[in-house]
Amino acid sequence: MKAENSILVIFGASGDLTLRKLIPALSHLYQSKLLADKFLILGAGRSDFDDEEFRRKMFDENEFISNGPEDQIPENFRKILYYFRMETSDPKEYKKLKLKLEKLSGTNEIPENYIFYLSTPPNLFETIARGLSQNGLNIQQRGYKRLIIEKPFGFDLESSRKLNKSLHACFEESQIYRIDHYLGKETVQNLLVTRFSNSIFEPLWNRNFIHHVEITAAEDLGVENRAGYYEQSGALRDMIQNHLLNLVGMIAIEPPTDLKAESIRNETIKLFKSFRPFSKKDIKNNIIRGQYLSSQILGKRVNGYREEPNVDKNSRTETYVALKLFIDNWRWADVPFYIRTGKRLPARVTEIVIHFKSTPHYLFTKVNNKIDKDNQLIFRIQPDEGILLKFGIKTPGSGFEVSSVNMDFLYSGHTGSYIPEAYERLLLDGIHGDATLYPRNDAVVKAWELVDPVLKEWETNRSLKVHGYPAGTWGPENADSLLEGKLLTWSYPCKNLTGDGRYCEL
Ligand code: BG6
Repeated sequence: MKAENSILVIFGASGDLTLRKLIPALSHLYQSKLLADKFLILGAGRSDFDDEEFRRKMFDENEFISNGPEDQIPENFRKILYYFRMETSDPKEYKKLKLKLEKLSGTNEIPENYIFYLSTPPNLFETIARGLSQNGLNIQQRGYKRLIIEKPFGFDLESSRKLNKSLHACFEESQIYRIDHYLGKETVQNLLVTRFSNSIFEPLWNRNFIHHVEITAAEDLGVENRAGYYEQSGALRDMIQNHLLNLVGMIAIEPPTDLKAESIRNETIKLFKSFRPFSKKDIKNNIIRGQYLSSQILGKRVNGYREEPNVDKNSRTETYVALKLFIDNWRWADVPFYIRTGKRLPARVTEIVIHFKSTPHYLFTKVNNKIDKDNQLIFRIQPDEGILLKFGIKTPGSGFEVSSVNMDFLYSGHTGSYIPEAYERLLLDGIHGDATLYPRNDAVVKAWELVDPVLKEWETNRSLKVHGYPAGTWGPENADSLLEGKLLTWSYPCKNLTGDGRYCEL
């Protein structure tokens, strides 16, 4: 289905996100002929570009643009890029923006359908929304008006509520699209399809058959050049409050009645309301935070977090968090969800492992005593996207020795499967007005309600430790202590879906 003709305005157009993600995604969509016949992109920002310079920077000099699915460089794409220089923080500039948009719509015969993408620091969200609404750029009489915003949606519970309030003073909730790029990942959406299109998994998807769920989002890179942001954020705000809780949503929600945005969002909020709040005792015992220390990786010294540029020498910002979460509802009562994320871990890998319960009476001998008795279903979100089922088979020969084997499905082997970038899917949905994959305000606030007491306790209780871990390892030494049962440890996934082992990436 083709979208209606429209104009996408990108605030923060000279920023990194626009260059690396937004323009490449839009270029792919253009090549795949998924954009409307008349679709324009207006970059807005402080840099002093004209249209041609903007086109050159975004298109000709953009190393992140690839040839795309149809393998043809879309020369015409650069012609739909325009630039408008403005001081975003100055309310008076929005009148000029409005005139510019009217002119572009008029000359190109595009209805006043405008999508405003705020790829700016969050302290500008309110100012931009106000500037737009004061100039009628929120009114939908002569075309739709949508606002897409990027995380962080607030810094804590109070500021997230305040942000919602100030956005709602300018735009209706139905006009606001909050991006969580994890929800745009093809493999994340596949969680819903795997669960709800197969009769073999869903009957087992509950506390009767699942022992625990493990979610890992590991990154091998450090904080890079983002200390200015990260020092204020830390891993709990940066990854868990949003991306990883939304992954929990996809694994744990009840079946929606249909695929409408509101049906899925209603199930999500129902689930988020069932998160068991962290008590002070839980914060002490069920949450581990860490920070990477300098070490040698493949013979090369890498910086510890405190040595990274612009990081406070005494920083207590966490670059690693592991926690145990419970969902107090009928389906998940007492099933622990172990969630872990960190920078400078051995590999960049995101995966979800569903650990099924052991058979009630295990009859067989385990080879080398190290075979998992439990079946595991692994969803590999990235890289080497796919699904893997681990189960036991008889080792050929006499007796009944059991070996664990893998049955795997890889997206890369799926004929013709091009996996679109998360931003492609989300931008296209936003252009079509489909908010299914965009978190609603109530879910964002609920997620803050869960993490806010942890942030406050970390801030005030100095006895809670920040554990060091050498860069390139799987996090603090005591991370396994979260997992219940003596034999349980975290999984150690490798880049390759079928590989695992504590040191496989080193
Ligand atoms: C961002 C975080 O939202 O997600 C980054 O701010 C993190 O710190 C990134 O590196 C991870 O995204 P992905 O898609 O590379 O897993």
